[in-house]
Amino acid sequence: MSGPNTTFDPKQVSVLSAEAVAAMVREASDAIAVAQDLASLKEVRIAHAGDRSPLALANREIGALPPAAKAEVGKRVGEARAAVKTALDDRQDALELERDERVLAEESIDVTLPVVRETVGGRHPLTTLMERVCDVFVAMGYDIAEGPEAEAEWVNFDALNVPRDHPVRTMQDTFYVTSQESGVVLRTQTSPIQIRAMLERPLPIYVVAPGRVFRTDELDATHTPVFHQVEGLAVDENITMGDLKGTLDHFAEAMFGQGIVTRLRPSYFPFTEPSAELDVQCFVCRGASVGNADRPCRTCGSEGWIEWGGCGMVNPRVLRAVGIDPERYRGFAFGMGIERTLMFRNGVTDMRDMVEGDVRFTRAFGLES
Ligand code: DAH
Repeated sequence: MSGPNTTFDPKQVSVLSAEAVAAMVREASDAIAVAQDLASLKEVRIAHAGDRSPLALANREIGALPPAAKAEVGKRVGEARAAVKTALDDRQDALELERDERVLAEESIDVTLPVVRETVGGRHPLTTLMERVCDVFVAMGYDIAEGPEAEAEWVNFDALNVPRDHPVRTMQDTFYVTSQESGVVLRTQTSPIQIRAMLERPLPIYVVAPGRVFRTDELDATHTPVFHQVEGLAVDENITMGDLKGTLDHFAEAMFGQGIVTRLRPSYFPFTEPSAELDVQCFVCRGASVGNADRPCRTCGSEGWIEWGGCGMVNPRVLRAVGIDPERYRGFAFGMGIERTLMFRNGVTDMRDMVEGDVRFTRAFGLES
């Protein structure tokens, strides 16, 4: 900066002349008018109002003027800077407003537009039913057991005391993997999981085993070659048929409602002795349809009872086959069809609906988790 100028002639400091200052303001105004967005306006602000702008530099010269001239020139430069600042601020406001309006327009959502809904699937009712069954038993302290779908014939039949020449073993009933000599079948029931549980687990054993099973049936309204069962097994000291009945009563209530009555009908299964069929009293008519032509019941066919599954006390021969001492341990077992359970529990009349995978069927059961 120059030192005090005692022989002042304003014309000598040309940057402070009225014309020069006016030119600076004009240049600034032109640049401001041309700035089309906030970024370029920022550059204009630096160039025309920043520390190194012509007006800022001119302002510094004022200090070198004699006192008499300072007021006039100071006022001129001050007004010029104020004018430039105002112009910049006005433009800034205008550009910000423009930007805000643009953003609002671009990001606006027309909430009245019709939407394309993502279709959500539904969990298959067989899956949710099996989970529900498992929950009932897990709550009683049972473990969940599993086994392979391609199973050794020995585990699926022999260990379960099914005679070598029993007709269920024929190819009319059982899928053999490769040939009948292969010794490997697609398990026809979940009962082989009992065998695996007894071979693999320490005593006492309390397990529930849901799973897919296979039989050579044609698909129709009441049969499917691939279906599901749930197996239960308890092996402990002093297990009685009373324990079996109490467990099944609790299971039935959890499935069909409080106060539902069950009954055991003598039957035969090679792996249990004694064996029984388990019936549940019809949870719709509760027996009121029996012999009452005015009140027929579709759920039980006016029988009053619904066949639910098989059960019994584990045959000592089965315990021996897996190395458990039948003098010390006893067990009970039971097995139910899941499809069958879903049919009468939820009024499904055609099994094909369960295998076709049409989401309209699944969705009718809601998004039960
Ligand atoms: N496995 C039998 C079936 O598929 C059902 C069954 C009956 C399972 C009696 C059992 C049982 O555990 O004790 O028909």
